[in-house]
Amino acid sequence: MIDRDRLATLRSDEESRFVDLHPRSAALAAEARGPLLAGVPMPWMTRWAGSFPLTFDTATGARLTDVDGIEYVDLCLGDTGAMTGHALPQVADAIAERARTGITTMLPSTDATWAAEELARRFRVPSWQFAISATDANRFVLRFARHLTGRPMIAVFDWCYHGTVDETFAVLEDGQVIPRPGSMGPQVDPAETTAVLPFNDVEALDKRLAEGDVACLLMEPALTNIGIVLPEEGYLDAVREITRRHGVLLIIDETHTLCAGPGGCTAAWDLEPDFVVVGKAIGGGVPAAAYGMSRGVADALAEPMGRPEIDIAGVGGTLTANALSMAAVRATLSTCLRQEDFDVAIPLAQRFTEGVSGVIDEHDLPWHVQRLGCRAEYWFCPPPRDGAAAAAAVDEDLEAFLHLWALNRGILLTPFHNMALFSPYHSEADVDRHTEVFGAAIDALTA
Ligand SMILES: Cc1ncc(COP(=O)(O)O)c(C=O)c1O
Repeated sequence: MIDRDRLATLRSDEESRFVDLHPRSAALAAEARGPLLAGVPMPWMTRWAGSFPLTFDTATGARLTDVDGIEYVDLCLGDTGAMTGHALPQVADAIAERARTGITTMLPSTDATWAAEELARRFRVPSWQFAISATDANRFVLRFARHLTGRPMIAVFDWCYHGTVDETFAVLEDGQVIPRPGSMGPQVDPAETTAVLPFNDVEALDKRLAEGDVACLLMEPALTNIGIVLPEEGYLDAVREITRRHGVLLIIDETHTLCAGPGGCTAAWDLEPDFVVVGKAIGGGVPAAAYGMSRGVADALAEPMGRPEIDIAGVGGTLTANALSMAAVRATLSTCLRQEDFDVAIPLAQRFTEGVSGVIDEHDLPWHVQRLGCRAEYWFCPPPRDGAAAAAAVDEDLEAFLHLWALNRGILLTPFHNMALFSPYHSEADVDRHTEVFGAAIDALTA
């Protein structure tokens, strides 16, 4: 239904426009190609629409400015790392103060206890520790789960994403677990470590967990990394009942679903996880993550935590829970991501959803737009039930065109899929600008 020739022409026009608009970013990207592998400091930075990444100059609140002086409405917000909005003065003050008074000592600072209490209040599990990234937090929790249960396998959902955690780079193909397409150098065949299950399929979960070799189920309460796939009515209750019945620990990764409210989906939907993982946004942009656990799990971990060899247990790191991260978490959680912040951001995501679905309806496209709290995402198919159905609708050419079209008109979307995230710093005018730009792109595509 999308004319591919027209799409290719439009994309190439947008590419030329992108190059013309960004001479300074182009020059810096050319320079970077010498000393930086692939010309970027981190592999995914090649994923932005356009033949080179923009170099950013400043990012404050909901705005980002590039080195060519062009300002963007930032709907990416660092793929949720800046869900609070960028460059918050109170976080800047806290980290500046901490930077002047010592960052890395291998000793606790005064902020960690406050942060743990606040996370316990929000996510309703009592015992916490910290990590540098959500990837690390997930890795640590998987280790705890295998240790506690004495079982070797972990379970995840098909097309999940939980960071660069080896065990999670697995998908289903004809019912078999295979490495996720694109994953590099798997440590071992992930079929040896991982059970992969379709989301929203109660029977498949029950059947696999009944085999008795799975330590934990690591899940997002709604998939967010292959578009948003919401749980069906009663599904999460069934997941809890099944995991309990089979002695499988339930790890809820709220790193993205924190967008649902101050305590993520765990609080919003009354979930009862054994572990909670949360990362990215809790540091207001500074690397930080946390993992929490129920009293029962914490009690069971008390003995190994006291062992002299805890430093080689495979959990933690030298700079983990450094005082800078902890100061950032405290400054962030005491002033951001509170109910009053979501009360501003969520209606903006609702407005975005209405605007985009209006355009989709007007053009009679079989697409949909989904929302979870202050996060919204459109997808090129009707609402999928699981990750595989969502993955089947990925259209990289269409995505790249839409992202480039938006970027060339001052709107930054996340490089992966079609996510838009709202902070209290966005405005209704920002949302309406996106709707207008999106509508014009679809007009151009379907004219
Ligand atoms: C649900 C989820 N968990 C964990 C991570 C990993 O976060 P990080 O890349 O900061 O380690 C991500 C990253 O996108 C994520 O989406």
